[in-house]
Amino acid sequence: MRKPLVAGNWKMNGTSAKNVLLLDGILAQKDKFSSVNVAIFPPAVYLHQVQMALQSSGLSWGTQNLSQFRQGAYTGEISAAMLKDFGCKYVLIGHSERRCLYAELDLDQLVLDHIVADKIDMALTEGVTPIICIGESPEEHAKGQTEEVIARLMDIVINQSGVKALAQTVLAYEPVWAIGTGKSATPEWAQEVHSFMRERVAKHDRATAESLQILYGGSVKGDNAAPLFSMPDIDGGLVGGASLDADEFVKICQAACS
Ligand code: 13P
Repeated sequence: MRKPLVAGNWKMNGTSAKNVLLLDGILAQKDKFSSVNVAIFPPAVYLHQVQMALQSSGLSWGTQNLSQFRQGAYTGEISAAMLKDFGCKYVLIGHSERRCLYAELDLDQLVLDHIVADKIDMALTEGVTPIICIGESPEEHAKGQTEEVIARLMDIVINQSGVKALAQTVLAYEPVWAIGTGKSATPEWAQEVHSFMRERVAKHDRATAESLQILYGGSVKGDNAAPLFSMPDIDGGLVGGASLDADEFVKICQAACS
């Protein structure tokens, strides 16, 4: 039985004062979602603040990215060991908004997939659980390339880290056309893609596939979360905009309670 996980990705939002209100608003209602794992992903500068607020709450926290390198002269980067130092249970890896930034530097998508795989290895060496974001762009979606895009990254990760490593990760299907657009994927579409992802792992190792948590992300809100989470292969959500409103976020967490 896979326990649902709801992750709130704050992206580049928040101030010290607003964060206090948001976290207090969520924590005041935490009895409403005790059967669900919940994690918060603030901008890295607020990691310590979030750690202090959540440390004895049962909720987890993490960052939105990490370096693929261990330590040294990498200005502006954050290492896996630093995440461990700040009590992070999870880290988001390969978010499409990160990919877009790198793509501006003309990096090939295949190169990016390998960087994602290196970051996953780095997180795992420190015992931080990677939440691996995968999803097709609007153009790839229109061309019917969803499965191809997803299979490419998954195969690189499986080949590099081994299928057993996936058992210590979480996957998140985040179709880029659904992120921040208000147009969520339908539960049926998302289910079909999640099932494809699970099957891709099952070809190598069925037990790992069965235990793997696969989240859906892309315009998840309080009023569309329940039908998405009721699908057999959707194990929770990766929430952007709606995670900035305590009541809305709590509503999504409640929708994941079975
Ligand atoms: P939205 O929920 O704002 O669409 O963002 C989804 C997302 O990118 C979470 O990582």
